[in-house]
Amino acid sequence: MTELAIKLLKDKKLSQNEYETLISTYTAEDADSLAKEACRIRDEIYGNYVFIRGLIEISNICRNDCYYCGIRKSNKDCIRYRLTHKEILECCEEGYELGFRTFVLQGGEDGYYTDDVLCGIIADIKFRFPDCAVTLSLGERSYESYLALFNAGADRYLLRHETADSAHYSLLHPQSLTLENRMRCLNDLRDIGYQVGAGFMVGSPYQTVEHLAKDICFIQDFKPDMCGIGPFIPHKDTPFGVFQGGSAALTCFLLSVIRIIHPSVLLPATTALGTIMEDGREKGILSGANVVMPNLSPSSVRKKYQLYDNKLSDGAESAQCIQQLKERVASTGCKIVVDRGDVKKG
Ligand code: 5AD
Repeated sequence: MTELAIKLLKDKKLSQNEYETLISTYTAEDADSLAKEACRIRDEIYGNYVFIRGLIEISNICRNDCYYCGIRKSNKDCIRYRLTHKEILECCEEGYELGFRTFVLQGGEDGYYTDDVLCGIIADIKFRFPDCAVTLSLGERSYESYLALFNAGADRYLLRHETADSAHYSLLHPQSLTLENRMRCLNDLRDIGYQVGAGFMVGSPYQTVEHLAKDICFIQDFKPDMCGIGPFIPHKDTPFGVFQGGSAALTCFLLSVIRIIHPSVLLPATTALGTIMEDGREKGILSGANVVMPNLSPSSVRKKYQLYDNKLSDGAESAQCIQQLKERVASTGCKIVVDRGDVKKG
C-alpha cells in the first residue's frame, strides 16, 4: 500500500494536499484495502443493511441552465412533464406496498411547486404514511421556503454542492448560480433541522484532482448526513455532450474515502454509477455505500427525466423490480431492509 493510504487508515483524516496526492497515486491494492475498511466501518455503525428510498421525479421543468444537465431550460428536445398531487400520492401508495419507508421528491426548479403546493403534498404524505420519511431534492429555495416545507413535515433535503471550488462551479453553471448561494442553502437546511445531503460529480468537465481534494475536505468539515457521489455522464443535448464521462473506479474509491473519514454518513450507490457499469451498484456497496434509490416515478414519465444519456430506470433501478435489487444487494453480503433509514447521530 502507498504511504498515504496507510495514513488514512490510521488517522481517518488527511489534509487537502494529501488527498490530492492520494487520488493521483493510489494503487489497486490501496482501493481494495480502503474498501474493506469502509465496509467494516459501515457494518459497525449500520449493520450490513442497505436502505432503500423510493425516488419520485415530480417534474423535469427547470428554470436553470446547468451545462451538464439534460433537463436544463435550454434543452428544447426534452419533453416536459410535471406530476400532480394525486399522482405523487399514488406513487407513495405503491411504494409503501413495496416496502419503501422513505419517499424522495426530486425535480427541477419548477415554479409551479410553490410552498403552498408542496406543503399540501408533504402534509398529505405524512398524514397517510406517518411512519415514512419525506426527502426533498428540489434545488435552491429561500430560508423561509425551506422552513415552511420542514414545518409541513419534510425530514431531509438533498442538494449536491456539485463542486467545492467556486471557479469550477462557475464553469459548470451559468452566472446566475453561485457556490456561495449553494452553501447558503446547505447551511440554512442544516440550521432548520433537516437531515442534509450534499455531494458531487466525479469526472465533471474541467475537474482537477485539486477540486476533488477540496470536495473531500468539504465533506470532512461540513459532515453532511447524506452524500451523493456519481460519475459525470454526458448528455448529448447539453453543452457538455462532447466531454468524457467520469470513472466508476474513481467514484468507488472516493466512496470508500468518504465512509472512512465520515463513518455515519448515508452513502448511496447512485443510479449514475449503475448506468456506466453493469454491477455498479454492487461495486458501490462493496466500497462502503449503504443506500440505493430505485425509481418510483410513474413509468410513463421515467424516460423523460434524462439527466444524462442512457440513465437507467428499469431492471434493478425500478422500484417494481425490488426483488432483483434484493438479489443484487444480497450478492454483496448486505441486506435490504424495510426501514426509514435515518442517519445515526454520534
Ligand atoms: N451526469 C451525472 N450526474 C448528473 N447530474 C445532473 N446531470 C448529470 C450528468 N450529466 C446530477 C447532479 C444533480 C443530480 C440530481 O444529478 O449532481 O445534483
